[in-house]
Amino acid sequence: MSSSSSSSKPWGGRFAEPTSKIVERYTGSVRYDKALFEQDIAGSKAHARMLARQGVISEAEAVKIVGGLDIILSDIHEGRFVWKDELEDVHMNIEARLTEMIGDAGRKLHTGRSRNDQVCLDFRLFVSARLEAWSELLAGLVKVLVERAGEHAETILPGYTHLQPAQPVSLGHHLLAYAWMFKRDYERCQDALKRSAVSPLGAAALAGTTFPLDPKSVAEELGLYGTFGNSLDAVSDRDFALEALFVGSTVMTHLSRMCEEIIIWANPNFGYVALPDAFATGSSIMPQKKNPDVAELMRGKTGRVYGALMGLMTLMKGLPLAYNRDMQEDKEQFFDADRTVSDSLSIMAEMMQVMGFRPERMLQALKLGFLNATELADYLAAKGVPFREAHHVSGSAVAMAEKKGCGLEDLTLEELRTLSDKIEADVAEVLKYETAMKRRNTPGGTAPERVQEQRSALKYWLAGL
Ligand code: ARG
Repeated sequence: MSSSSSSSKPWGGRFAEPTSKIVERYTGSVRYDKALFEQDIAGSKAHARMLARQGVISEAEAVKIVGGLDIILSDIHEGRFVWKDELEDVHMNIEARLTEMIGDAGRKLHTGRSRNDQVCLDFRLFVSARLEAWSELLAGLVKVLVERAGEHAETILPGYTHLQPAQPVSLGHHLLAYAWMFKRDYERCQDALKRSAVSPLGAAALAGTTFPLDPKSVAEELGLYGTFGNSLDAVSDRDFALEALFVGSTVMTHLSRMCEEIIIWANPNFGYVALPDAFATGSSIMPQKKNPDVAELMRGKTGRVYGALMGLMTLMKGLPLAYNRDMQEDKEQFFDADRTVSDSLSIMAEMMQVMGFRPERMLQALKLGFLNATELADYLAAKGVPFREAHHVSGSAVAMAEKKGCGLEDLTLEELRTLSDKIEADVAEVLKYETAMKRRNTPGGTAPERVQEQRSALKYWLAGL
């Protein structure tokens, strides 16, 4: 039977039989949790310094520990560190190496600490750093959208409801709708940080410890907002990761909706965008194709992030207090979700920067979709025709234009007057798409001046970050 000696394990004291190899592989996490090495080392250094301040270990021992951990840190960075599967996880790998290097002082590092509070600290530091990174990427994307919206404040796009042509809107207005979503996502990241950037160190295994620890000073050294209020909660709470995954899922929802629009707009029947070559691919059999693969994959990858959120919720729902080994399964899903969220945000920002818009195709669609029909109805209503009747007249005008194969604006005044004698020469101005867009100048509306106002508000927000 393949096995490895259990006396080599940090917990080997009570074990006579070695661990079986398959169990070692099944329970081990080092192959993925080594991603936490920076957080693990930062946490251990802060813990060692605190132990010395509290007189639990000597100043000289703390110096040796910190020095040893710094060497390990650079060894890992430079690929010199040897990770051992039989040492189970990142924590035991680093501690074992430290002891190998500095002897007894290394063995004192874990005083007043358990892997239960240690892993939770590492993971909280990691998740918090990623929330900061997502925030930055979100702000970057908002910036790109604000810039592109500036170029297209006056570009007229068919606005849709039910994916049916509805009313003309400014393309800039449409782009800024997403900018506001990503701004809220930024704020969600920052809000989640208030709860994730909190130290659980000092909770030990579950009940606190007999050593005179000072958790507050550790939290301060690590730049965290505060410490736990209850040791059982501290070692078994993963809501910080759930919140981050919810925020990540919401980000992906917004990205995915944007992708869906890019995919629709890139279809030649719409043709509102010309995909930049760098963000599209061709077909191996159909020479005419230019496929929006990047947008499709981003829409698809959204499912992975939702999966991570559902996975962790399901993982947590039946766990009694306090730590349970099930919780080791929290990390891989988060790492995967983080890669997806981070890459998707960077790629979307790059893609939107170079996205080619085609205003001439938007104009064609405005005509085909009779997007000025509401204008005609409103025009008649303003002249005292009851709105229901005005709606009916405008509908008949649409039918007439459809039959002629033209837009409402192409009907002659005489033709229009057969439907209502309230229609006069001034209708021509009203039927212009540009007029329709400009007249919707209520706060937050699509008029170009309101689009510029939104851009100023968003720029002001960006400048204050
Ligand atoms: N690798 C473990 C995890 O990720 C560390 C904590 C293990 N604690 C324990 N009592 N076995 O959750």
